[in-house]
Amino acid sequence: MAWDLSVQVDRESSVPLTAQLRGAIRAHVEDRVLHPGARLPSSRRLALDLGISRRVVVEAYEQLIAGGYLEAVRGSGTRVARTLPEGDGGACLLEERRDTGARWDLRVGNANLSNFPREEWLHCYGKAVRDVGREGLDYPPVAGVPELRNELAGYLGRVRSVRTEPARTMVTAGFAQGLALLSQALQRLGVHRIAVEAPGHNGQRLFVQETGMVPVPVPVDEEGLDVEELYRTGVRAVLVTPAHQFPTGVVLSPERRRRLVDWARERDGWIVEDDYDGEFWFDHRDRPAALQEGDPDRVVYAGTTSKVLVPGLRLGWLALPPGLYPLVERARSRQDLGSDALTQLAFAELVRSGLLDRHLRRVRARYRSRREALAGAVRRSLPDARLVGCAAGLHSFALLPPGTDEAAVVEGARRRSVLVRGGGEFRFGGPPGPLGGPALLLGYGSLPLGGIDDAVAAVGAAYEESRRRT
Ligand SMILES: Cc1ncc(COP(=O)(O)O)c(C=O)c1O
Repeated sequence: MAWDLSVQVDRESSVPLTAQLRGAIRAHVEDRVLHPGARLPSSRRLALDLGISRRVVVEAYEQLIAGGYLEAVRGSGTRVARTLPEGDGGACLLEERRDTGARWDLRVGNANLSNFPREEWLHCYGKAVRDVGREGLDYPPVAGVPELRNELAGYLGRVRSVRTEPARTMVTAGFAQGLALLSQALQRLGVHRIAVEAPGHNGQRLFVQETGMVPVPVPVDEEGLDVEELYRTGVRAVLVTPAHQFPTGVVLSPERRRRLVDWARERDGWIVEDDYDGEFWFDHRDRPAALQEGDPDRVVYAGTTSKVLVPGLRLGWLALPPGLYPLVERARSRQDLGSDALTQLAFAELVRSGLLDRHLRRVRARYRSRREALAGAVRRSLPDARLVGCAAGLHSFALLPPGTDEAAVVEGARRRSVLVRGGGEFRFGGPPGPLGGPALLLGYGSLPLGGIDDAVAAVGAAYEESRRRT
């Protein structure tokens, strides 16, 4: 049927046609101009009506279907979804954080906010305010103040073996902004689909979707992302957490690292490395270098102060391949006028003075003792579980025996005033894979050392109760 649709695109605009069309349809859906269930023209019909390529319409439809705005109906085309995604105004990247009054909250692997080195920060911030010249108080370069870009390039090379230079590093408002900018840059290059790890960070997948890319799940096993599956998707971009995968905590194996870089070279592809927990490896000797080291022309390295210090700073960075840098810088200059210069100068001083290294040594030791406490508590109270992903980070993943009623364990723990997340929250698309069985994410970063035993004992009791019921 040749359904009609009132949308326009501007072929003179610098905004890609796919983004324009997607935005126009989405706005009509959100404003209820297009009603739930309304029929849309076929991609061929709409392309002809608008005088654009059919590929543009197919991509816009695909992205809107992935975002839950449209539905493909077998045999009868595309229509507006009958139930729309919730627009609650919350940031989808953020995990559940409401204070529920529960005794213990193991749901997230966040940094312990009490670890913020207030004295050191005051010292560095004070120095930045005293030393900055008049011109330093003007708008900073959008990519970051030179002092911080210099420090970052050196620091990332020294600590994570990242191969970069100041002119290719960019300071961002956390990893979140970096990801949004990369998404725009990739779409400029005609890349509209990006592989994401499954199980993975649901919020990140939704966030990617909101930025206009179609996330394509690729399974993760105990060696990390399955690169052969990645090949099969035909995508040209991938978002990975090689140092400590979220949520399973697995580490990308050396063989997979090589294969992943080969994939990028063979497919003219881009790898976005979220160096999640890269600074929180507990055994120095085992810590893998950043994946970016393998091919700085293909891998974007992304880091953040959100765990190293605290999320409230909203400070992150990208080390970019030369082929992406100008596009990302352009995307940034359209979005805002750069990051807070004084915060950047203070952080540059924290790095330069060695205070950051000292702080990290200190907090790593604290988190290590929590990890050991967690492993001991799991051995005692949840002996059927197998912990994976313990080498780094602020959370571990407990695999439960097949057949365990994961939801019942989560609910039983909640009744005992302990909040925990089941592995099911992180599964999306495709077969569950070897790490997709019943599991629990156990975040210990912000738990007091003395609380870990008690929290895991409650989870263990909930597990035993669920076994008795089945
Ligand atoms: C997988 C992952 N990477 C990175 C981040 C950090 O993001 P940001 O630097 O914007 O705080 C988060 C925060 O939710 C995350 O879940």
